[in-house]
Formats: sequence, C-alpha cells, structure tokens
Amino acid sequence: GCRQYFGCSDWNSLHSSSSGTIQELWRLLQPINISSSGPEGAFWYGLFEKQLTLLEEAEGGFDQFTRSYKSYGVQRMPDNSLVFKEWAPAAEALFLTGDFNGWDNFSHRYSKKDFGKWELHIHPKEDKTPAVAHNSKLKVVVHTRAGERLYRISPWAKYVTRHEKSVIYDWVHWDPPQPYIVSDYFPPAPRILIFGKDLLISAALFTVIHPGYNCIQLMAIMEHAYYASFGYQVTSFFAASSRYGTPEELKELIDVAHSLGIIVLLDVVHSHASKNTEDGLNSFDGSDSCFFHSGPCGEHSLWDSRLFNYSGWEVLRFLLSNLRWWMEEYRFDGFRFDGVTSMLYHHHGIGSGFSGDYTEYFGLHVDEDSLVYLMLANHILHTLYQDCITIAEDVSGMPTLCRPVQEGGLGFDYRLAMAIPDKWIQILKEFKDEDWNMGNIVYTMTNRRYGEKCIAYAESHDQALVGDKTLAFWLMDKDMYTNMSALIPMNSVIDRGIQLHKMIRLLTHGLGGEGYLNFMGNEFGHPEWLDFPRVGNNESYHYARRQFNLGWLAAPPAYISAKHEGDKVIVFERANVIFIFNFHPTNSYSNYRVALGPPGKYKIKLDSDEIQYGGHGRLDHNTEFFTEPMEFNNLPNSILVSKLYYLLP
Ligand SMILES: *[C@@H]1O[C@H](CO)[C@@H](O)[C@H](O)[C@H]1NC(C)=O
Ligand SMILES: *[C@@H]1O[C@H](CO)[C@@H](O)[C@H](O)[C@H]1NC(C)=O
Ligand SMILES: *[C@@H]1O[C@H](CO)[C@@H](O)[C@H](O)[C@H]1NC(C)=O
Ligand SMILES: *[C@@H]1O[C@H](CO)[C@@H](O)[C@H](O)[C@H]1NC(C)=O
Repeated sequence: GCRQYFGCSDWNSLHSSSSGTIQELWRLLQPINISSSGPEGAFWYGLFEKQLTLLEEAEGGFDQFTRSYKSYGVQRMPDNSLVFKEWAPAAEALFLTGDFNGWDNFSHRYSKKDFGKWELHIHPKEDKTPAVAHNSKLKVVVHTRAGERLYRISPWAKYVTRHEKSVIYDWVHWDPPQPYIVSDYFPPAPRILIFGKDLLISAALFTVIHPGYNCIQLMAIMEHAYYASFGYQVTSFFAASSRYGTPEELKELIDVAHSLGIIVLLDVVHSHASKNTEDGLNSFDGSDSCFFHSGPCGEHSLWDSRLFNYSGWEVLRFLLSNLRWWMEEYRFDGFRFDGVTSMLYHHHGIGSGFSGDYTEYFGLHVDEDSLVYLMLANHILHTLYQDCITIAEDVSGMPTLCRPVQEGGLGFDYRLAMAIPDKWIQILKEFKDEDWNMGNIVYTMTNRRYGEKCIAYAESHDQALVGDKTLAFWLMDKDMYTNMSALIPMNSVIDRGIQLHKMIRLLTHGLGGEGYLNFMGNEFGHPEWLDFPRVGNNESYHYARRQFNLGWLAAPPAYISAKHEGDKVIVFERANVIFIFNFHPTNSYSNYRVALGPPGKYKIKLDSDEIQYGGHGRLDHNTEFFTEPMEFNNLPNSILVSKLYYLLP
C-alpha cells in the first residue's frame, strides 16, 4: 500500500538533505500512530483528528454541523414564520429587504448574536402564510463600520436568477408550494466508472445517453454569474444554476438518472470562488476576510478569484454543509473536486512542475489547512454515505491522495489522469506520425501511483475550450465538413483521423486507469443493438448499456511487453486480453511475434479495422492464434500475428 510512496528511507533521505526547519523537526517527533503511511501521513492525520474532534464536540457532532443549511439562510418554521440567519463578522448591522416589504431598507433588522452571527425572525402574515412569498426577491443589506451600505445575496441562497438585461443576479426565495419529492431509490454503486461529462442535459435526453454510462458528471451546476467561466467561478454555492431549469427540475433529472441505473456526480468547486461582490460570496460582510484569506494569499493570481480560508470554523461549516446539501437535497452520488492541486500547495501549482519526487509533495509549501479540509470532506462523505464516490482533479500526483483517510491518505476514490489528454494533444500538435514515441506514450498512460485509482480520459472540456481543439478536430478539422461522409470514399485525412481516434481512445481505455471518462460523442463499447428493459427480455439492461464485459478497467494494471520505437507497435496484456496497436503510418507487418503470458488459443475480439467502426475490414476474424512455448519479451509464450496493418490501406 502506501508505504512504497513514502517509506522511511525516502523520508529520511528527504530530511537529511533538507535544511530541517522547526516544523519539519516537529513532524519527525510526532508519534506514528497509523501503520500504513509514513511520518507525513501521520502528521496530517493528527491535524485531521484534531479538527474532527472539534467538529464532534461542537454543535452536536459533524452530522449536525454539516447540515447547517437547515439553520442558515432562510428557514420556514412549522408555523410558517421565517428565520433568517447569516454569518457576517465584520458587519455593523444587517437588514433584510425585498419584494415582501416594498424594498424597505430599514424595517427588518437582524439581531446580533455571538461569533459574528445575525438572526431575524419574521412572523407569518395574518392569513398564516409566510411573510416572504415563493419566487419573490430578497437582499441582505449590510451596514459596514465604514458607514457603507452593501446589497448582498445570502451565501446560502438556494436559487438566484438574472433579469434578461441585468448583469447581476438576484436572490430569489425558493419555497415552492409543491416541492419535488425526491425518490429514495439509488442505483447500486458501480464497481468501475465509465462515464460521460460535459453534458448539459435535460431529463428527456437521458433516453439518448442511457445506453452505456453508469455515471454522469454534471458540471457548471453551482451558480456562476459569468457564463464563460464554464461554471468554475461560482457565485452562489447552494444554488443550482438557473440557466438550465429550476432546483426542482434538477432533482427530477437526478431521480431519472437513478431510475436508469446511472449515478450522478457533481463537479464541486471548493478550490476558489468568484470575485463578484454584489452577486457572489466575496466581501459578503464588507471585509476581505469573510470566508476567504485576507490579503494577497486570499487571491488566485491566474484565476482572478478568491481563495477560502479553510481553517475558519464558519468556512468549514459553509463548505462541508455545501457537500451535504447536494447529497441530501439533490441526491447526488458524489463529487469531482475541482482544482485540488491549487488547494494542496501554497504555490497553487503556479509555475511548479511535478516530477514525482517526494520533496515536491512534503514540506512547508503544502497547505495543511486545505489538505485537512479535503480529509474531513472525504471522511464525512464516506462515513455518512457508503457508496459516495469522490474524484480529485489533481495534476500534481500527491501521494496517498486516493488512499483512505484511516490510512493517513486524503480519502479520494479516484484522481483524474490529467496528463493523458495533455499528452495526446501534444502529440497531435507537435509530432509527425513517424516521430510518435511509443515509450513516452506508454509511460504517460501508466505513470500513476500504485494502489491509487485513476480515471483515464483522452480528452475533456478542457481540450474543447475556445483556443484548443478536440481530438477529432486536431485530426480531421480541415476535411470534416467537406469530406467526411458515408456517401463518398474516405480521403487520407479522414481515414487517418478515424483510425487514430479509435486507437487513441482504446489505448487510453486499456492502459490509462481504473475508470474511464468519456467526452461528448466519444462513446466506447456500444452494445450490438439497443434493447431497453421489458417483459420480453426479462427486464434486462444488457443491451441498454455499455458492454462492460470488456471489463479490464477493474483488473490490475497492464503488463506491457512491447513498446517498439522502430515498428511503432505497443503490446500489452490486461485481464487476459491482449492489446496490439500498430501506430506506424506506413508499415504493415506479417507474422509479427507478440509475447503472451497464459498459453492457449486466442481470437480477435475487437478490431478497430472492422468496416462498422470505419475501418477497412482487412482482418479475418475466424483466424485462431495458438501460443507457442517460445519465450519472447520476458514472457513464457508468444504468438505470431499473421497481419498487423498500418493505419491506411
Ligand atoms: C433602499 O435603498 C436602495 C439603494 O440605495 C434604493 O434604491 C431604494 O429606493 C431604497 N428603498 C426605499 C424603500 O427607499
Ligand atoms: C484564517 O482564519 C483563521 C481562523 O478564523 C484566522 O485566525 C486567520 O487569521 C485567517 N487567515 C487569514 C490569512 O485571513
Ligand atoms: C474535399 O472536399 C472538397 C469539396 O467537396 C473537394 O473539392 C476536395 O477535393 C476534397 N478533398 C479531398 C482531399 O478529397
Ligand atoms: C429472469 O431474471 C430473473 C432475475 O434475475 C432470473 O431469476 C430468471 O432466471 C430470468 N429468466 C430468464 C428466462 O432468463
């Protein structure tokens, strides 16, 4: 397990070679109370335990603490009175204004409580209905010590909308008379993840994407005033974006996904927040330290956004409750945590490369507050929700990121293999086909920490952003609109593009990880036909889903027997399946010897050259390949592959 990442010898050499700060010394003196990780893990675990104990002791345990969305913002009481509660430590006074009081700025004053909190109770109207109507607008008026009057949206707002001509979002009181009742049904947790993301979908669309995915990752759900930020400059953390529908419709969408056996992950952005003040979280109470670090360390220089102060009690309440909110209220099945690399290091990954050397991960540049926050988040999620899945968007390769918290890890289930899509784009941009480096490709596909699961992907929205191109466009954009048709023969650009597109994805799928992330339209493993569950097929999902019988993702990493630079051939074995790729632009091979472990008879199961996949149909699928006990490339057996065609005929 983890020992191999920072076993004692590595750690000692790190310390003997470093100058030895007091903090590092102190770390060495910490008792190692968990067996599987080294001193660093024990140190982090100690910090985590301290925070967890505080959460357990205060406010009725972490379960209640992380449900603070039930006491902050607006709550309707059983008698229809309303309770408003905010944390605004720097404020001088707080008022509530809105449609309900004719935008009177002084009639509804919050009373001041301990620890910078404010509360306001509003009785129901005479007819016993709540004083603030569903769908009516509200604002918090914050009076600062400097005498300013600021108009703010509650950080806990559940719904915000924007008037057509306005740039600023409004806080809309969301308390529908007929709330959507979420179903209690959750699909069984998938053993491996094959999923699509970047899909801005409606429930109706599910019938289209249903056959295949067992998981969908929804991005840009948390409300973001700036559309072009792709959802990564969040302004209202508890509000489902009003661009795609109402909160009730999102709940329904998730229910529909669940009923189809699909789990739904939220792309959660806790690494930073929009700088907006009027409709964002920034400067809620007029100070720069509310929720965020004050001064320069509260700003992300590249993203032009604010950075949370994860050591703050109310910040922990806000963010951890935010996770509970999406789990409880919307029934999400887990999260992809955005920007984890930026959180882990004080340098936010800006201007620092990661080679895998331990000094890059341990030391004073690690932001222990956010690291402990991630441990807390994962611990709480995995404790309360057995099947919850968390994925880290981390490019740094922080050791133990995807090991359980009890082992001293950070507790994620997967990390995104972010280097893989970058590698493919780099290859397509910079190298001629004859210069592709097989060893380097294989290295990138397999360069992951042993015992920590990865989600492999060939491309995602990152590559499709303005200024970059999808794989298909890198391969074929010049001819896609004019020469890509089933009615005309393929020209060489389209032919190369189609063949490489398949090979890139299959190689990524086979070598790159323990789960696979699909990008729009890049479906892999379609069933032979589509058949939805019905009485006639015994309610079977078999032909309604991706063909998981090609299930090497759950198997241990591949054994690579060949990465031949001259031949441009990659051969590997995983889950008793042998993968053979010929990336050579002009060379076909006859009777090509390929190494094998288990002896026996082999047949072609998947052939990217089949006509139905846009190939040329050159291989005879009736051929049987018998192993010979001839040692080759360090494996005991081998076969002769009669034909290994190059890309183009
Ligand atoms: C409350 O203050 C805002 C902003 O200064 C102003 O536009 C509005 O008219 C005020 N409301 C009333 C009822 O005076
Ligand atoms: C972060 O929050 C802690 C706890 O509230 C506080 O002591 C510290 O000064 C804050 N740090 C910054 C840079 O604002
Ligand atoms: C691509 O399509 C255009 C327009 O139909 C045609 O003129 C051109 O010859 C085609 N190019 C190739 C390489 O086939
Ligand atoms: C139908 O499915 C049920 C439950 O999985 C199974 O017990 C039964 O044998 C199946 N019947 C047929 C005809 O496949």
